[in-house]
Amino acid sequence: MSILDKHKAIETNATLLLVLSFFVVTIGGLVQIAPLFWLENTIEKVDGMRPYSPLELTGREIYIREGCYVCHSQMIRPMRDEVERYGHYSLAAESMYDHPFQWGSKRTGPDLARVGGRYSDEWHVDHLRDPQSVVPESVMPKYGFLERKLIEPTYIRDLLVAQQRVGVPYTDDMLVNAMGDFLAQADPDSDYDAMLERYPGAQVRNFDGQPGISEADALIAYLQMLGTLVDFSTFTPDASR
Ligand code: HEC
Repeated sequence: MSILDKHKAIETNATLLLVLSFFVVTIGGLVQIAPLFWLENTIEKVDGMRPYSPLELTGREIYIREGCYVCHSQMIRPMRDEVERYGHYSLAAESMYDHPFQWGSKRTGPDLARVGGRYSDEWHVDHLRDPQSVVPESVMPKYGFLERKLIEPTYIRDLLVAQQRVGVPYTDDMLVNAMGDFLAQADPDSDYDAMLERYPGAQVRNFDGQPGISEADALIAYLQMLGTLVDFSTFTPDASR
């Protein structure tokens, strides 16, 4: 009896085929799933990652509210054309503090995962106010109203607490100082050293260049930090995991 004949015995017996298929799928499933029960974390630890500062987190809320994710992704795939256009492919750790994640599923506009530092604050103000003024063929809507809407950090602590409940490691120190840190990051004349200690690498500026803290300030603070936390000149993937 050749091997094919033996296989014929299985293929012509529905019950036997079903039982053996089930057996094979079970082993495959166990091999894939069981190790996850013993792994503490599937996300590689990467230097530089930290939770969003209160102002950045507020900007992120505005990003979500305005549906920017409908036209923009935040996930650079490990393919040559993407890496050449946008920079180093996205690491899992880079979205570990994103609840919900902003990977997106459509790119009407470019990927924004590494847009931080690519343009000046003034460019962002002009672009949000009137995208066609800087990119004539743009189909992006105007968001000029953001710079006219001033915001107060009344609920910022609650926002941090909500993020903490879903696993972002905000400390008590960060919660207590949420309001002060929010104000400090948008005011270069403030005493922001303690804020920088809590959120290393946070950029302190009057982002929209106008008095008062507006939604545009928060949104631009968020855009300007995207993809800037990990130093890719020193990053090496951890092959031991
Ligand atoms: C209808 C789709 C659409 C929506 C919604 C949208 N954008 Fe855009 N965006 C685009 C397109 C198209 C471009 C490319 C042309 C341009 O630069 O305006 C773009 C470009 C950008 C750029 C420049 C990126 C680069 O690398 O050049 C930024 C930053 C940006 N958008 C931010 C936002 C933000 C923030 C929001 C939400 C407040 C938003 N976009 C909403 C379509 C959209």
